[in-house]
Amino acid sequence: MEITMGFMIVIIVLMMMKMGSASGIITFVFGDSLTDVGNNNYLQYSLARSNYPWYGIDYSGGQPTGRFTNGRTIGDIISEKLGIPSPPPYLSLSQNDDALLKGVNYASGGAGILNDTGLYFIQRLSFDDQINNFYKTKQTIKAKIGDEAANKLCNDAMFFIGIAPLPLPPPPSEKPLPRKGKLFAAFTRPRLLFLDEPTSGLDSAASYYVMRAIARLGHKDGIQRTIIASIHQPSSDVFQLFHNLCLHRKKLAFSRQWLLRRWAGSNDYVNNFLQPFLADGQQYTHDEFVDLLISTLDQQLTRLYEVGARKMVFHGVGPLGCIPSQRVKSKKGQCLKRVNEWIMDFNSRVQKLIHTLNHRLPNAKLIFADTYPLVLDLINNPSTYGFKVSNTSCCNVDTSIGGLCLPNSKLCSNRKEYVFWDAFHPSDAANAQEYVCWLVV
Ligand SMILES: *[C@@H]1O[C@H](CO)[C@@H](O)[C@H](O)[C@H]1NC(C)=O
Ligand SMILES: *[C@@H]1O[C@H](CO)[C@@H](O)[C@H](O)[C@H]1NC(C)=O
Repeated sequence: MEITMGFMIVIIVLMMMKMGSASGIITFVFGDSLTDVGNNNYLQYSLARSNYPWYGIDYSGGQPTGRFTNGRTIGDIISEKLGIPSPPPYLSLSQNDDALLKGVNYASGGAGILNDTGLYFIQRLSFDDQINNFYKTKQTIKAKIGDEAANKLCNDAMFFIGIAPLPLPPPPSEKPLPRKGKLFAAFTRPRLLFLDEPTSGLDSAASYYVMRAIARLGHKDGIQRTIIASIHQPSSDVFQLFHNLCLHRKKLAFSRQWLLRRWAGSNDYVNNFLQPFLADGQQYTHDEFVDLLISTLDQQLTRLYEVGARKMVFHGVGPLGCIPSQRVKSKKGQCLKRVNEWIMDFNSRVQKLIHTLNHRLPNAKLIFADTYPLVLDLINNPSTYGFKVSNTSCCNVDTSIGGLCLPNSKLCSNRKEYVFWDAFHPSDAANAQEYVCWLVV
């Protein structure tokens, strides 16, 4: 693994030298909440958001930007090291923006390799969506500078990919509003309605009339609307008004088609985390799930290549079993070994895939950035790197309601001493550490 990292450093330095001046490098960034720089702020219904304090407290300006950390993301740090501005969020740019020529960030919190990862966030750009958006960018670039120059621009650009292989936990559920408030707030013609037990306290006849009225909203004013409601023991009449079945399990409602895999609390966590379900109830084994992820990733990276990407850096997954949201599931706050083993297996399969792609795709230069050993060392020996705490987050999060850093959370007194900012995301200082190590050495 050490060798891989050395290799990576050399390749990136070579890429920079070949470009002549580092400042000429154009980067396109793809990924999840580790690299999102604000795309989700533009997704009206996304629950994967960080546009509130204390996110961004250490970013320039000190304001939340949509980054899921107190300061800079990994993507920001890389841009800094390359001497270029961090590319803007794709959704902040107009379709015909000249800024598209200078690099774009497509990353979206809650995204994953599989389309349905993070479905419970309602809206996020999956890796496929991100590739489609890059395709649109390429068309715009072609229209602006011509086919040949556009191809060259993409061939020379650096593609940075850091995407989750696994479903991340659902977002915090908000404190329930008074029922009436929720119902009235819903009548503003949204495309999606969430109703929390709209019939409780009503008898079965009244329940039916209320639910029938709600069901009619599904296509009122010619707008197709999705309505998601939780309901206890519905009568068969009410039941028939629903188009899709939802099952209630351990505080979270999942629909069979809507979610292909389940998420559950502590005890059976590892099993559920690693054993997703197919829509028809067919279960994957761990190996089959990794196979699915790798074959999907194969198609996705090949597609990126076909659209013009040549230099791609795939950011390996860190020791997810050691992030605060996972540690709290263990008895004594230690890392979840099985999760880490699974991640290592996934990483090594990605490494093989990248090796294969480098042979299969002419002129492709893909690199696997194996950050796992470094991040694990940072977590195991924080003081070596100038940190004090790596087993809990700086922001005093409540992992039972999601583990993001909410505005009423208390922060640690020195944010530079903590490896983790919230229950999932590294702090600015940790992000900087990782890349100082492998880009500057
Ligand atoms: C995932 O979504 C993308 C774009 O929305 C679509 O092109 C692709 O076919 C989907 N893949 C699967 C396996 O459903
Ligand atoms: C983190 O580690 C410290 C020192 O080893 C320990 O005192 C503390 O209880 C741990 N915190 C958690 C949340 O596990």
